[in-house]
Amino acid sequence: MYLRALKTAVEAAQKAGSFLIEKVSTEVTIETKALNDFVTNVDKESESLIISLLQEDFPEFGILAEEQGAKPHFDKTPYWVIDPLDGTTNFIHRFPIFAVSIGLCVGKQPVLGAVYDPNRKELFTAIQGEGAFLNGQRINVSTAHLLQHSLIGTGFPFRNIAIIDQYQKCFAEILKRTHGIRRAGVASLDLCYLACGRLDGFWEHGLQPWDAAAGTIIIQEAGGKVTDFLNRDEFLFGRTMTASNGIIHEELQKIVSSTMPLQYPY
Ligand code: IPD
Ligand code: CA
Ligand code: CA
Repeated sequence: MYLRALKTAVEAAQKAGSFLIEKVSTEVTIETKALNDFVTNVDKESESLIISLLQEDFPEFGILAEEQGAKPHFDKTPYWVIDPLDGTTNFIHRFPIFAVSIGLCVGKQPVLGAVYDPNRKELFTAIQGEGAFLNGQRINVSTAHLLQHSLIGTGFPFRNIAIIDQYQKCFAEILKRTHGIRRAGVASLDLCYLACGRLDGFWEHGLQPWDAAAGTIIIQEAGGKVTDFLNRDEFLFGRTMTASNGIIHEELQKIVSSTMPLQYPY
């Protein structure tokens, strides 16, 4: 049912990805939205490009895009959830990890997702009920059975500096009990790396729907589990997320929920 929509999302993500690569060594205009939260002319231009491509094929769908906003629909109308440049801080510093993330949601559930990493030319996709793929090859979450054998991804609370102490506690506990922690600065790719088994778990406080929509359906379709810090399904709009291969979820969640603020903002 969503095959045609995925095709459009992939085309838009790849075109926007090529645009980001063209712009990476040019001078960009940087605006500060909030503490450590930046937007450049490239974010905005990438978003306009994506929206025009999506609207050309699906004028009837809603839009929730990072830079232009717009309210999500919670009726049955599908709406695109777009991050035109995930990893803006990396992009500004020419740290070569960033992505384009496009999800399609119905209500609070993503039904398809496309995440494109233009630096590695890796395209992650999924449609609800039809599995998850990396460059067309089926992917699955890892089979790690214990936290002790796991590599965990995270995002730092660089905006919510009031929670740094709690975050540090959580970080230390996870660091002590795992193979290690990675922080790429691109949530959509963290989620896709979990979906293909490069990471076994992930947690972050403060994620927005555009960071999460595509990546979470890709994890679910790869056999993984996504919840908020309270083990509910509120991972898209609730701003807290624990994700895993499913097997280590309880072990990871135990540490997260005993150290981190459980709700957003606190
Ligand atoms: C950010 C990145 C980062 C995550 C932040 C996001 P942006 O997105 O995904 O990994 O830790 O929470 O805001 O602002 O670069 O699109
Ligand atoms: Ca983002
Ligand atoms: Ca962004």
